[in-house]
Amino acid sequence: MNSLQKVFSSIFIVAFLLLTYNLSAQDTPTPFEQIKRMGRGVNIIGYDPLWRDFDNARFKEKHFKIIKDGGFQTVRINLHAFHHMNEETLKLDETWLSTLDWAIEKSLEQNLMVILDLHNFNEFGVDPETHKPKLMEFWRQIAPRYKDKPSNVIFEILNEPNRKLDAELWDQYYKEALEIIRETNPIRTVIIGPPFWNNINNLNELNLPEDDHNIIATIHYYLPMEFTHQGAPWVEGMKDKSGISWGTDEEKQRVIEDFAMVQKWSEENNRPILLGEFGAYDKGETKYRTAYTSHVARTAESFGWAWTYWQFDSDFIVYDINNDEWNLPIWRALIPKNEN
Ligand code: BGC
Repeated sequence: MNSLQKVFSSIFIVAFLLLTYNLSAQDTPTPFEQIKRMGRGVNIIGYDPLWRDFDNARFKEKHFKIIKDGGFQTVRINLHAFHHMNEETLKLDETWLSTLDWAIEKSLEQNLMVILDLHNFNEFGVDPETHKPKLMEFWRQIAPRYKDKPSNVIFEILNEPNRKLDAELWDQYYKEALEIIRETNPIRTVIIGPPFWNNINNLNELNLPEDDHNIIATIHYYLPMEFTHQGAPWVEGMKDKSGISWGTDEEKQRVIEDFAMVQKWSEENNRPILLGEFGAYDKGETKYRTAYTSHVARTAESFGWAWTYWQFDSDFIVYDINNDEWNLPIWRALIPKNEN
């Protein structure tokens, strides 16, 4: 190659790199932009029979449109995937995968953002080591399967790491899973939360990789537990609680201060926030539950976060599937009337 040819080929390479960089930049909203697109959302189908028997689904195709028309921009799909893996090969069941394909396609048709949230968190709290290969195998199958999906599809590595999956182990596990994801999805937005049930007080134990900024940090907020989980049999000490109110100025201020602390972490670490779960269990009085739900949602919005309410159907319901109508007080607490 003579020197003129060298100059031309260098120019060509630089132009090519600039062009591909621009294309991928256009295609890759920053995680802060993703948070804006996500806005208001809801957790769906974690406990629906459709995963075992599609004909027995509570959640039907029409509900994706109902969610969109109801003023939501995002669905967080809760995946209890480990129950659908072959015990030996750890291959995900084909029928289960086709149900997930369906849920993603129907969400995208409604132009919803879709979070794929691995929700086998309880198993990890008891015995992380046994379940670690399943976590890795899950992402080894899911990441390449959806690698060509638009940026509306977001991966959440694992819901609420807890108990024996402590800060140190979680740091290792999510980094390993992230590496697997990055092999096929170098720029996909990924959601990762702190240990101890994605608790706001454990954000300082979340050390996200400096060289990866396509990450959203997530927290869950159910404080005070005595109010949000009164009568809940699955949380220690809450089953027999009842009649607990919420809504004093002090209680409202507490939420604002808690979120301001999270916001400080967010700014110091330059990571946007998804409030991935919040709500108050059905056993509380409706007027307090709606006051709480709306205050938490509005406070999150005031800090510019996205949120996904817990949950559409099953318990804490925002939608009454049996009668096919919105659970009006909770829905209006989430989506104010003049905004939809
Ligand atoms: C769990 C649910 C529980 C909710 C509130 C979720 O992460 O999957 O079983 O109802 O948190 O406690």
